[in-house]
Amino acid sequence: MTHRRHFRPIHAALLLAAVIAACGGGGGGEETPLLDAEGCTTGAEPLPGESAFCRGKANFSNRTLAGLGANGRSCADCHMPAESFQLTPATAQARLATMTATGVDDPLFRALDADDFRVNGAAAHDFTNLNQNGLVRVTIPLPANVKLLDCGATVPCPASARATSETVADIWRSVPSILDVRITGPDGLGPVWPRGANPSGGYQLDGRIDTLQNQALAALRSHAGATIDPPAAFLDDLAAFQNAKFSSNAVRVLANAMASGVSPLPDPEPALDPLEAAGKLVFDRACGQCHGNQAGHPSSSVPLLLSTAGTPTGIVRYHDVATACPRPVDNVSPPRFDFKPCSASQMKNVRTYEITNSGVAPSGTPCGGAAPQPPCVTRITTSDPGRLLLTGYPAPGGPGDIQHMDIPSLRGLSRTAPYFSNNTAATLEEMLDHYTQFFKRVQVQNPAAPLLTTKPGVTPPVIDRPFTQSEVPALLAYLRKI
Ligand code: HEC
Ligand code: HEC
Repeated sequence: MTHRRHFRPIHAALLLAAVIAACGGGGGGEETPLLDAEGCTTGAEPLPGESAFCRGKANFSNRTLAGLGANGRSCADCHMPAESFQLTPATAQARLATMTATGVDDPLFRALDADDFRVNGAAAHDFTNLNQNGLVRVTIPLPANVKLLDCGATVPCPASARATSETVADIWRSVPSILDVRITGPDGLGPVWPRGANPSGGYQLDGRIDTLQNQALAALRSHAGATIDPPAAFLDDLAAFQNAKFSSNAVRVLANAMASGVSPLPDPEPALDPLEAAGKLVFDRACGQCHGNQAGHPSSSVPLLLSTAGTPTGIVRYHDVATACPRPVDNVSPPRFDFKPCSASQMKNVRTYEITNSGVAPSGTPCGGAAPQPPCVTRITTSDPGRLLLTGYPAPGGPGDIQHMDIPSLRGLSRTAPYFSNNTAATLEEMLDHYTQFFKRVQVQNPAAPLLTTKPGVTPPVIDRPFTQSEVPALLAYLRKI
């Protein structure tokens, strides 16, 4: 088989050489460029005449970004190709150790992603969030009705705390994989969220960006410090590259089928052994309503379609699964749910926000009455307000946006630890421990929640959706396979 694999690159090399010659670029005596397994040249800059995919691939890893006035970072500094295009805390730690030992600059460590950047500016050098948590600063403007309070990361924030003049919030987020992004952006399907950017799903962990081009532009400006915007074609090339990267060939086949409107869609599921197949049934029951994976749009990032048989009517697009810090604590003894507390370095990312709901836009609803009306002033203490920062819409008692995040795809999960938007679950086991507590808490808050029953409308409610501890081995086996 190995000699067959060598054929494609050689053919591609000849083809490329011919293209270059045809374009008048092939001066006498030039060597045929070396091509990688995807048929692309391996230099820092793409060659003219290469495909959009190859140009995008080269620029994804291009630290120079000539002409953009950037800070030496490439997309690949965070979305590391060797790590399924994400970043782990262990690798960040190893890279910092190498930089310290060798003195060779690593552009991952730029002052703007240091914990102390707001205090020390260009001299900032405390990389605790990158190192210990694998988290990167994401700066989001505050909606007009949302203020940060002056109690810093103190929990609880004293009642005497006052609003600061800050106009942006620094949120610390994990670097998601870019695999499968072709089918995890806005999908135009229900369920549709009632407010804010991209009501049918979007890019970023909170779904705030609509296209890969706009995503790349935002990344170049913020993470790579570009002072000049690139031409549109540059962004198209980056999108072409990312749109062709998948966690498996089966997902590639699915994406192609979706693009050409094939029905029914092919199932991207790998062959499952009996334990994994048992796990899939548990997954469909306990997780599938949010993480999809059945019928319609099997990307694992779209909630079940409301028309799917047995689907409760309460399914929504964006969710708070209590991943932000601090974790909810039950005030009843013994506690009815018991989340693992966040680490000290995660707790440093907590801030308290004050949301003023005047009943006019952006929060838009009357306030001060009984639920589901939100109160007129809400204070929340959290490491990540989620979509609240896009809409300013609070709402205990109603479907507010506090801590609401987009649903990620779970394809290729075994290769993308740690998990959650703040990397708070180191392993799949820890991730499931979190969901065990999550389901218990949902039951305390709302025992009739559609999330908890496969038999909506039955009284008293039949709580049969959460997975049981004896189902964990099967569920883990399935999650490791997809
Ligand atoms: C400093 C680290 C860093 C760099 C450099 C970086 N990213 Fe990201 N990327 C992130 C983080 C963190 C997020 C999640 C941000 C959020 O949700 O608010 C993200 C999100 C994304 C997403 C969204 C994925 C999804 O599933 O919604 C895409 C696509 C992406 N980046 C592409 C790029 C491209 C293209 C570049 C280069 C132009 C780039 N990134 C540079 C850290 C980085
Ligand atoms: C109520 C909707 C909902 C249910 C039910 C649900 N999830 Fe999630 N899941 C989400 C949302 C929203 C996120 C993003 C939150 C975050 O990362 O902070 C998420 C994130 C995840 C992640 C992190 C992915 C990554 O790459 O970091 C994993 C893994 C996951 N869920 C697995 C599961 C499993 C397994 C189940 C069933 C036991 C489940 N989920 C049930 C909504 C849900």
